[in-house]
Amino acid sequence: MSTLLEVSGVSVTFDGFRAINNLSIQIAEPELRAVIGPNGAGKTTFMDIVTGKTKPDEGRIVFGDRGDSILGMSESQIAQAGIGRKFQKPTVFEAQTVRENIAMALKNPRGPFDVLLSRKADNSETRIREISDEIGLTDALDFQSGALSHGQKQWLEIGMLLAQDPRLLLVDEPAAGMTPAEREHTTELLKRAAKTRAVVVVEHDMEFVRRLNCKVTVLHEGSVLAEGSLDHVTQNQDVIDVYLGR
Ligand SMILES: Nc1ncnc2c1ncn2[C@@H]1O[C@H](COP(=O)(O)OP(=O)(O)OP(=O)(O)O)[C@@H](O)[C@H]1O
Ligand SMILES: [Mg+2]
Repeated sequence: MSTLLEVSGVSVTFDGFRAINNLSIQIAEPELRAVIGPNGAGKTTFMDIVTGKTKPDEGRIVFGDRGDSILGMSESQIAQAGIGRKFQKPTVFEAQTVRENIAMALKNPRGPFDVLLSRKADNSETRIREISDEIGLTDALDFQSGALSHGQKQWLEIGMLLAQDPRLLLVDEPAAGMTPAEREHTTELLKRAAKTRAVVVVEHDMEFVRRLNCKVTVLHEGSVLAEGSLDHVTQNQDVIDVYLGR
């Protein structure tokens, strides 16, 4: 296990407000990491910074074996380098089948999905099956994606990200709006994905975080308040004061 992502001393200010304040986090490969903390703690902004959507005012962020800085890279260069991100709202192509959605993601490794460029016959049925098995949608491969449940759409989008084979996958509040059974399936899926890559999950649902059974980082006011096992951080008095005791 070696360090894949190293964020050190990063700060971001929006109109004079320090949303991220001297933040340092290291993520290993492979690793499953949960990031929790109160509303406005900077969890989403952390993901915005790592994906290049928001540029920090100061600090260092290096990624990969050579420890390349991502600060000079564009969002698409960062995605090419192997950092994938799942947004809260699924962005699957609703008129296409599950199979077509996965196939499109496979044809364009780590690039933007460009349907026009990928007309060539696809022989990646094996990969499609591997991914559909991994996300639990093999029985739904020929369904139109728009007919899937909210949870199934989220899994499909995770599958489309896995098709790009990211080394680091960032997932913001995956369990929101899901049924208890869907949440459980999502936990299993993320745990499996994190066996071969780094997966960072932001989530408020503590039951969900407990089931992930991984190291937890608690953010507060843009910095790390506590880090360790869920039991360790939930016994921390600062964490109880700012997050759990509300
Ligand atoms: N583009 C922006 N411009 C101005 N302020 C912003 C911007 N993005 C985030 N913020 C502010 O930065 C702080 C951190 O926001 P962020 O969305 O990262 O919190 P969060 O931990 O993801 O919260 P939540 O749990 O509610 O999703 C908040 O006070 C937010 O209002
Ligand atoms: Mg957020």
